[in-house]
Amino acid sequence: MKIKKGISLIDQHDKNGFWGGKFGGNFIPETLKKPVEDLTILFQKLRKDKKFIRERDYYFKNWVGAPTPFIKLENLTNHLDGAQIWTKVVSEANGGAHKIYNATVHSLIAKRAGKKYIVGDTGAGYAGKMLSMAAKKFGLKCKIFMGAKDIKRQKPNCDAIKKNGAEIVPVYTGSQTLVDAVSECMRHWVSNCDTTHMAVGSTVGPNIFVKICGWSTSQISRELLIQIKDEFGKIPKKIKLLNCVGGGSSSFGFWNEFMHYNKKQIEFIGIEAGGPKKSKKHAAPLTYGSKIGILHGAAQYVNQNAEGQIEETESISAGLDYPGVSPLHCFLKDTKRARYTAASDEEALNAYKIVTKYENLNPSLEPSHAFAEAIKMAPRLNKDTIIIVNSCGDAQKDKDILRQRLGV
Ligand SMILES: Cc1ncc(COP(=O)(O)O)c(C=O)c1O
Repeated sequence: MKIKKGISLIDQHDKNGFWGGKFGGNFIPETLKKPVEDLTILFQKLRKDKKFIRERDYYFKNWVGAPTPFIKLENLTNHLDGAQIWTKVVSEANGGAHKIYNATVHSLIAKRAGKKYIVGDTGAGYAGKMLSMAAKKFGLKCKIFMGAKDIKRQKPNCDAIKKNGAEIVPVYTGSQTLVDAVSECMRHWVSNCDTTHMAVGSTVGPNIFVKICGWSTSQISRELLIQIKDEFGKIPKKIKLLNCVGGGSSSFGFWNEFMHYNKKQIEFIGIEAGGPKKSKKHAAPLTYGSKIGILHGAAQYVNQNAEGQIEETESISAGLDYPGVSPLHCFLKDTKRARYTAASDEEALNAYKIVTKYENLNPSLEPSHAFAEAIKMAPRLNKDTIIIVNSCGDAQKDKDILRQRLGV
């Protein structure tokens, strides 16, 4: 299993939609075959359409606020006294997280498809908030599916979704988190696909949704490549790109443009949610060697029991609290282009405390998992090593949890 040069990873699947012959695919009901096929044809056409690309770039620049800043965290670097710590402040994008890229592109596609309604799933609330923003901007009616547990713990984003005029559909099944929200959203789409466009909130789901999302978030690494060259004059010899991994959309977008660099020069490190230290539950299928199973229309490494039933996850971070992971990441793991590890709830909270003590940055609980790994590894590395963390979300949405757990 190898990554091919000169072709984007999103296109390196076989004719049945599988990366590496085994991850992804289209495990969908018969009724969705035609809508998925139509969407695939439309997207393949639009991504080659210069007018559509100009439109995307226009909104990324003038509405999303591209490029987001790339800055050095000098105080944190001095405190850790090892590798340099830099961050791409993606949380500066309109709405406060990377989910805006996928939401914008899906809304533009929905308009082209002549759909009046758009639906989406959300965990941390950012995918929902961004879709509600984009729907408002582009004149679409919007419904967001969200687990009841997440509605309680991510209230600021729920308030924003409602303020944008979208409806939140609470999901009470299963663990009442992201995994159930995605299932319910897909169920809704099955019966409403004639009038409705579905935006899956991460690089998960049937093949075409993985591709659209990965194509959209790749904006992050397109910007970063230019910013690194501007800052250092060339690509430095040792860079480590650290990103939290839930479904895997921010990390894929953060890495995509660097895919063909040697991994000794540019290493990809994905940080999953290890869950509470005392609990056996986690949301880290790549780190803990979960087996391949089917979830949300795609084959992937997924937490499951001996019978193949999807297992419940547990994480302080709603955005990472998901039992599966993108087929793109399964492929990156198997090809060894990326490596994956996990941070516990406690490590993420501690990282949040350290980062906010030394820096004027407010990373949400998801990127705080990546900062936990940066804090662990930086003191062991020399000053020529550049660690770049994708600070992909703002902690404003986590204020209730942070008050409870840290008293801040
Ligand atoms: C701020 C933030 N970061 C990361 C994630 C994890 O998702 P993904 O792995 O698709 O980036 C989420 C998901 O909601 C999020 O809101």
